[in-house]
Amino acid sequence: MTGRRRLVVVSNRVAAPRAGSPGNQGGLAVALESALKQTRGIWFGWSGETVDEFNGHIRLERNQGITTATIDLTPEDVASYYEGYSNRTLWPLFHYRIDLAEYDRQFEAGYASVNRRFAETLAQLLDPDDIVWVHDYHLIPLARELRALGVCNRIGFFLHTPWPPVRLLTTLPDHRQLVEALFSYDLLGFQASEWLDSFTDYVTREADGRLGPDGEVAGFGLKTEAALFPIGIDAAAFRRAAQSPEARAMAKRMRTSIAGRHMLVGVDRLDYSKGLEERFLGYERFLSEDPESLNRVFLLQIAPPSREGIGSYQEIRDKLDQLSGRINGAHAEVDWVPLRYVNRGYSRRELAGIFRTARVGLVTPLRDGMNLVAKEYVAAQDAADPGVLVLSRFAGAAEDLAEALLVNPFSQEDIADSIRQALAMERPERIRRWEALMARVETNDVAHWQKAFLSRLAG
Ligand code: ADP
Ligand code: G6P
Repeated sequence: MTGRRRLVVVSNRVAAPRAGSPGNQGGLAVALESALKQTRGIWFGWSGETVDEFNGHIRLERNQGITTATIDLTPEDVASYYEGYSNRTLWPLFHYRIDLAEYDRQFEAGYASVNRRFAETLAQLLDPDDIVWVHDYHLIPLARELRALGVCNRIGFFLHTPWPPVRLLTTLPDHRQLVEALFSYDLLGFQASEWLDSFTDYVTREADGRLGPDGEVAGFGLKTEAALFPIGIDAAAFRRAAQSPEARAMAKRMRTSIAGRHMLVGVDRLDYSKGLEERFLGYERFLSEDPESLNRVFLLQIAPPSREGIGSYQEIRDKLDQLSGRINGAHAEVDWVPLRYVNRGYSRRELAGIFRTARVGLVTPLRDGMNLVAKEYVAAQDAADPGVLVLSRFAGAAEDLAEALLVNPFSQEDIADSIRQALAMERPERIRRWEALMARVETNDVAHWQKAFLSRLAG
């Protein structure tokens, strides 16, 4: 652990814990909130607000045991750094969608300048003994900027997303500069071996690199360490959430509306990486192939809008609106709709209650760094009568959750077959699979992740 040294966590998105948070903040904020509750430390990042001119003002707040230190960005910063380079360039590229990635020098310049400003502001807050832990693709150059300002602290980086294969990454015009910046960190963490392998592959092929023992990586004439740290959830807390009065009330409400049918559930930010279109099509196929399932099952898809200023997100939202309309138009009856498509967030307790009443959890991203929803679905189940997790083989979580029904999310047949198999699965097999999954979700929880990373970083 970090001993008595203070932990400073840095991420673009800082979610101050509030009751009824909107629920579209994603896995990073959920995990860091859990991790920070267990350490003394501060969480530094963007407030989510804009100001006309950058003023470097740091807003300190203390909320439920977590201290946040946030700064505002200008609308131009948001356009070039957040919506631009982070989410129009790196996010699609890191999720293997080079068809959606936009390469624009203005985005690159905005990304560099906001990282520099983050470094200048953060450097004022740092004590020499602090351990600094930076998160995600928005802040890859941060350590290099901090080092340029003379910061000598131990600095680690964790990537919550996939890392793309070499041939995809080299489509990024400044790929060498981006990867070289990672060598200013003392430790790099990845979610799954596939992403770590792609990173080391890049370094050996493109940067004249070498791999040493214990994760040492040399490249660009520099050295760092890279290792696997699969993120987990606060399993005990989520299990408790599933038994809370709010969860019970939600479960009761759901059971009344389920009325003896089986519910399939999906919960995802509305993002093209989540495979929602493919999931809807796979479900539609299942309905057409299994007419006896009509009026006996339904899919509840909860998908709060995310990154709404970006065209590719508006497009996926429009597509899903059309598709859900088509599916319901073709199959609905006066007393039954096959697809309930809901664009809002729910509290964690309400979500836990929803997961607990769903016979099948559909988690079918086309590509995902880890996917925490898969773990939350498992943690919320009733041990005596658990549901079945259908999980994409292209989510980092699939490396660990082998007893789920693993599917190819690009194949409608595969999705339809897995739904059929999950609905037909007898209770003893459901229990056997769930026990194995739950054991892993509990052991590899968020505390384990945080301790593993920080003890290695602290050296
Ligand atoms: P990502 O980080 O890409 O969004 P993850 O599955 O890793 O994907 O994490 C998503 C997190 O956001 C989970 O903790 C999930 O419970 C939460 N979440 C997603 N959708 C909602 C929603 N509609 N309401 C509340 N929480 C949500
Ligand atoms: C994913 C990313 C996070 C991000 C989250 C929500 O989990 O890995 O870095 O915070 O999505 O996206 P947003 O753009 O709203 O922060």
